[in-house]
Amino acid sequence: ANSRKFFVGGNWKCNGTTEGVKKIVSMLNNGVVPSQDVVEVVVSPSFVYLDTVKSSLRSDFHVAAQNCWVNKGGAFTGEVSAEMLANLEIPWVILGHSERRALLNESEEFVGDKVAYALARGLKVIACVGETLEQRESGSTMDVVAAQTKTIAERLLNWTNVVLAYEPVWAIGTGKVASPAQAQEVHYELRKWLQENVSAEIAATTRIIYGGSVSGANCKELAGQPDVDGFLVGGASLKPEFIEIIKSAT
Ligand code: G3P
Repeated sequence: ANSRKFFVGGNWKCNGTTEGVKKIVSMLNNGVVPSQDVVEVVVSPSFVYLDTVKSSLRSDFHVAAQNCWVNKGGAFTGEVSAEMLANLEIPWVILGHSERRALLNESEEFVGDKVAYALARGLKVIACVGETLEQRESGSTMDVVAAQTKTIAERLLNWTNVVLAYEPVWAIGTGKVASPAQAQEVHYELRKWLQENVSAEIAATTRIIYGGSVSGANCKELAGQPDVDGFLVGGASLKPEFIEIIKSAT
């Protein structure tokens, strides 16, 4: 037993239409799930649907943006600033997702700067780390996730508003989920890293959630691992199955 509240995030990525988003919201609003005291649920639609989702979503679930700019807004065409998210009372933002690290060349430093800036603007951050298949096969998983975490940790004064998401790149969107033992091992090591490099308190209280092909079928066993404090769900967060995943909190 620990004091960390189970956290389930739904990352909708670059998906949805007005109609589709309405359907997902109604599915979520009709879902019977454990109370807010037991599980924190945050869904992350594309920027263009954030406002609609926020205003139509049940009040015990919250929204997250999928990204924000690294610094104060201004002449940055196509970007959305942390100030804007704060202004619209969007409480959460996902930063450092591997898709952005890989496809948009976001460096570790850039991700670290974004996390620090968003926190300073009052946003809560789901910060993602994770190794590629090549890195796992060469035995460098822990080095990679520790380095990614360190770049973030070095810039932070306060971890209260951070959830750390471990998303092995090889498990994202592949249907190839990390085994409960594989997830537990990395989560345990990450917590140990926090204990040794940040503090025992931060290590004990920071939620470390797993992402990568989480489904209704595999969530229960993963949720049973002592250091798995929740999930960041991609594909399955667009489906009724997401309700089952939320229920794995209990
Ligand atoms: O952020 C969630 C994610 O990258 C996992 O995606 O589709 O494998 O659940 P998926």
